Amino acid sequence: MAWLEIKNLTAFYHAIRVLHGVSLQLERGDFISVIGSNGAGKTTLLRSISRLVSSEGYVRFDGNDLIRLRPRDVIKRGIIHCPESRLLFPNMTVYQNLMMGAFLQRDRQGIASDLDRVFEYLPVLSIRKTQLAGTLSGGEQQMLAVGRAIMGHPRLLTLDEPSLGLAPLIVDAIFEVIRKLNDEGLSILLVEQNAAGALEFSNFTYVMEEGKIVNQGPSQEMVEDPSVAKAYLGME
Ligand SMILES: Nc1ncnc2c1ncn2[C@@H]1O[C@H](COP(=O)(O)OP(=O)(O)O)[C@@H](O)[C@H]1O
Ligand SMILES: [Mg+2]
Repeated sequence: MAWLEIKNLTAFYHAIRVLHGVSLQLERGDFISVIGSNGAGKTTLLRSISRLVSSEGYVRFDGNDLIRLRPRDVIKRGIIHCPESRLLFPNMTVYQNLMMGAFLQRDRQGIASDLDRVFEYLPVLSIRKTQLAGTLSGGEQQMLAVGRAIMGHPRLLTLDEPSLGLAPLIVDAIFEVIRKLNDEGLSILLVEQNAAGALEFSNFTYVMEEGKIVNQGPSQEMVEDPSVAKAYLGME
């Protein structure tokens, strides 16, 4: 049994099924990516883990069944979701946004050390601490979304397309931060349309199409896989 074990997961929007029996495994310390084009079901997968959409199947994390939990109880078990489109509070400052990420934390000492950690990994947030989130650049907003997630003191961080809409240099900077967090022991589950970036930075990759996992393997091997190269890396 893996640390995060997903078996035969199905998810629905109203009566329409959009995940069709997804299985995925993640061990403590892993950096796993799920690549797939728009509409493949990546967001739905992460939202199912965080109990934000109705789904059925087997989802266990560190020995606990998640499928019947409320979203806040998933957070309490240490799975923190960094959502698609960042979903910041634009009229609040950088600092206030970060503190929103700590809303379930009671330990003031712990919050202070998480904040130090955020400013160490993402120094731009320290510089912009009192600036309104809505006035940050796209890259800075993504950094803030990651920082806010770290304030939730994750054991497993799930990231929904952090590269979306950002220039290549900024994307690399964000992936570097994620890799550094992983190097320090944080487990990562990343979903991305940016297959090249996901394959470069993660250790193991799943390919998702139309709500199903169609391929999987160590990221370095997946880069060499002709079907992956053709469909996701634009190579013939
Ligand atoms: N709120 C929703 N209501 C109905 N259908 C949805 C909703 N959100 C997503 N879908 C559908 O579910 C499928 C998977 O979407 P999604 O998980 O957002 O894919 P991805 O994140 O890979 O782009 C798509 O066909 C999409 O149209
Ligand atoms: Mg999505």
